[in-house]
Amino acid sequence: MAKTVHYSELGLVNTRDMFAKAVGGGYAIPAYNFNNLEQLQAIITACAETSSPVIIQVSKGARDYANQTMLRYMAMGAVDMAREMGSDIPICLHLDHGDSFEICKSCVDSGFSSVMIDGSHLSYDENVALTRKVVEYAHQFDVTVEGELGVLAGIEDDVQAETSTYTKPEEVEDFVKKTGVDSLAISIGTSHGAYKFKLKEGESVPPLRFDILEEIERRIPGFPIVLHGASSVVQEYVRLINQYGGKMDGAVGVPEEQLRQAAGSAVCKINIDSDGRLVVTAKVREYLAENPAEFDPRKYLGAARKELVGLLKEKNQKVLGSAGRA
Ligand code: G3H
Ligand code: 13P
Ligand code: ZN
Repeated sequence: MAKTVHYSELGLVNTRDMFAKAVGGGYAIPAYNFNNLEQLQAIITACAETSSPVIIQVSKGARDYANQTMLRYMAMGAVDMAREMGSDIPICLHLDHGDSFEICKSCVDSGFSSVMIDGSHLSYDENVALTRKVVEYAHQFDVTVEGELGVLAGIEDDVQAETSTYTKPEEVEDFVKKTGVDSLAISIGTSHGAYKFKLKEGESVPPLRFDILEEIERRIPGFPIVLHGASSVVQEYVRLINQYGGKMDGAVGVPEEQLRQAAGSAVCKINIDSDGRLVVTAKVREYLAENPAEFDPRKYLGAARKELVGLLKEKNQKVLGSAGRA
C-alpha cells in the first residue's frame, strides 16, 4: 500500500492561485508532461531560469511506465532542486487524463496537488456525476480538479477518438455549477500527438475555433480554461528526426501565434507533451548518429536534456507568457 501524504508536506501547490493570476494577467501556465528524470530536470531548470510557475503532469501511461510513487518522490525532489537553484517558483503536481475515481483518489492520497478527471467520453450526465464525485473527494484535501467537456481527436491515453467533438458552449455553465470543478478543458480544434492536421499540398493549418472559446468565456467569465493538445510540433526537430533515420512525414502542430492568442484569453493552462518527445528523439538520434561508438546514456540523454531546456524556456518566454510570473 502506498503511503498517504498531503501535497503541502512536499512543498507543492494546487492550481487555484496560479490560475487566478494567469487569467487576470493574460498568460497561461505551462503544463509539461514527464515520465523520467531528464524530462523533469529540464522542466524545472527551464522554469526556474525563466521564473515561471509550472504544472508538472503525469499521465496514466507515465504511471504505468515509471510508477506513481516514484514520480511523486521525483516531484518532491523537483521542489528541492528549484529551491537549491535559488528559485521559489510554484510547482503543482497534476494527474493528466485521470479516467476513474479510483485513480484520482489514489493520486490525491499520494501527494498530487491537482487531478484531471476526464469524463469527456461519457454521456453528459455520467460525466457530471463522475466529475462531481472526484471534486467532492479532492476538495476535502484542497486538491484542485480539472474536468473536460468535448472530445479531442487523437489519442488520450488508451482512448482513441477518430474525430473531435467541439465543446458545446451551452453546456459549460451547467457543468461547472453542477460539478464544482476548478478548471475546464475544452475542445476547439487541437488534438493530441504529433499529427494534428492532415494537410494537402499547399494547405496551411486551420485556425482554432476561437469563436467557441469566446462564447465559453462569455458564459463563464473569468473561469480557468485548459487547452490540451497544444504542441506546435516544431519542424526543426521533425526534420532532424527524419534526417537521422526517423520517419515522421506529415507531422504538424498548432502554430505558436494561435497558442499565444489563446494564452491571452481565459485559457490559463496549456498542455505540452509531444514537443518534448520530439526534441528528445531528435537529439538522441543526432547524437548517436554522430557518435556511433558512444554507449553512455548520460551523453545522449544529456544532449537531449540540454536542448529540451532551451525549447521550454522559449515556450515560457514567447508562447505562454509565463516567464517572470512566478
Ligand atoms: O494526453 C496525452 C499525453 O500526451 C500523455 O500521453 O498517455 O502516452 O503518456 P501518454
Ligand atoms: P500534445 O500531444 O499536443 O503535446 O498534448 C499534450 C496533452 O494534451 C497532455 O494532456
Ligand atoms: Zn491532454
